[in-house]
Amino acid sequence: MFIVLEGPDASGKSTQLDLLEKALLARGVHVVATREPGGTEVGAELRRLLLQPGRGMQPLTELLLMVADRHEHVEEVIRPALRDGKWVLCSRYTLSSLAYQGAGRGLSGELVGRLNELATGGLQPDFTFLLDLPPAVALERTRERDRFEGEGLAFFTQVRASYLKLIRSVRHGYVVDGTRPPAEVCREILARLPVAG
Ligand code: TYD
Repeated sequence: MFIVLEGPDASGKSTQLDLLEKALLARGVHVVATREPGGTEVGAELRRLLLQPGRGMQPLTELLLMVADRHEHVEEVIRPALRDGKWVLCSRYTLSSLAYQGAGRGLSGELVGRLNELATGGLQPDFTFLLDLPPAVALERTRERDRFEGEGLAFFTQVRASYLKLIRSVRHGYVVDGTRPPAEVCREILARLPVAG
């Protein structure tokens, strides 16, 4: 199983990654928890470049770095784990580029889609959970601002609208209310997955 968590900054993806990893391990599932950008050694360098506050960057450069990170991640982490029969829990994947670089930065969705396809070789998640959060709440929750978190309300409003549209286009895509307590969110996600009790 390849399971992806999506959502705006501060929607609780890291917390859910942690809770779900523990819950799955307790059920005897071999699971690898990972994230984009930065899930590999090369990716960690790309992440540093991408998130540095105050760094100017062309939108296309940003997209190319995100998909470079994704390609490395798919080939070095995700495919090998799936090949070993493990489950992969991943914070952010292709929808992040469509929502942020596409809707947020104004790059064409068609271009982002083609680069996603190139980077992933067509590997698609079995399940995608969108942790949805009103943009104002997301902004309020982020104190230390990286390059993306420094964007304003308009940017995050676009990102959210795009996410809500995109989630309907993927296999087993579900919207989860990210304002609810983490334990409840985790239970809701687990209930959708093919695991016992
Ligand atoms: P992340 O570490 O998931 O941040 P957070 O935990 O705060 O949600 O991601 C860092 C930033 O990278 C985040 O603001 C969204 C951005 N991002 C994109 O713009 N496009 C992408 O394809 C990915 C994977 C992330």
